[in-house]
Amino acid sequence: MLRLICSRVRCRSWKEDRDVNMNRIVVKKELAAKIKLIEFENPDVASKAKPGQFVVIQMGDKGERFPLTIGGIDPDKGVVRVIFNEVGKSSRRLGALGEGEEIGNVAGPLGNPTEIERFGTVLCFGGGVMTGPMAYEVAAFKKAGNRVVTVIGARNKELLILKDEMNALSDKLYISTDDGSEGYKGLDFLRDIFEGEKVDRVIGMSVATATLRTLCELTRPYGVKTIVSLSAIMLDGTGMCGVCRVLVGGQTKFTCVDGPEFDGHLVDWDLLESRKRIYSHEERVSALLDEHVGKDCASRFQQARK
Ligand code: FES
Repeated sequence: MLRLICSRVRCRSWKEDRDVNMNRIVVKKELAAKIKLIEFENPDVASKAKPGQFVVIQMGDKGERFPLTIGGIDPDKGVVRVIFNEVGKSSRRLGALGEGEEIGNVAGPLGNPTEIERFGTVLCFGGGVMTGPMAYEVAAFKKAGNRVVTVIGARNKELLILKDEMNALSDKLYISTDDGSEGYKGLDFLRDIFEGEKVDRVIGMSVATATLRTLCELTRPYGVKTIVSLSAIMLDGTGMCGVCRVLVGGQTKFTCVDGPEFDGHLVDWDLLESRKRIYSHEERVSALLDEHVGKDCASRFQQARK
């Protein structure tokens, strides 16, 4: 909360100097249907952020706060990259902004950075939109002297992103789709990798909890330490509201301040999946109201309640 307040205070002062720290979007691209990349000016975040950390964004003073994992920085230009899926009201509003426009409030960098060391061979899995921040990690693991085997996944080939960038960054790139429309179908092929070579660490990022859970079950028999970035629901992002609570190794942890990355073999996946569904009804209603307010709002609200 304190960081958010600070961010808002800074926003007011930034407006006095329109060239500095305004969260102004300098690059915007559509990478796939509803998947957007934006780069925005925020020298404060760009000078401090490390792979694995996130920012909390608020669209307007009364907007919800939502976390986005940082997908890269350019400290010299003071620019931060995020890649996100337009799945709800707030992310759609963010996606509707164009180059030159400003994001409301940005707090960060938050969370703990990824443990980047020279482990040997590191297998990096980036699923869906989280391929974006995984590219940031792949570059860091490579820079630390690791052999990096990257797997990028998506529901289908149309939703795969950053293939060329990942290919250039990695020693080896595998592609996986849920429907088999490109690359391997599903993640079972990973067993062949673990049977064929020694992998020293696995790191996984995906907003699909089931996918990360599958990844952890695949690596468990091989005893490969598997670190996963959990996408729990967050509000303040500073450890005060408790909404991002997860159970890891039998201990309660807050994803925002203790994570977001944890040992995937210790995560209570059932609890995480149930907690992620807590506000699904409200999210659907909010998205419908935002989309159809002034049209057939009441009937759609009833429809969403069913
Ligand atoms: Fe509130 Fe983590 S988001 S405690």
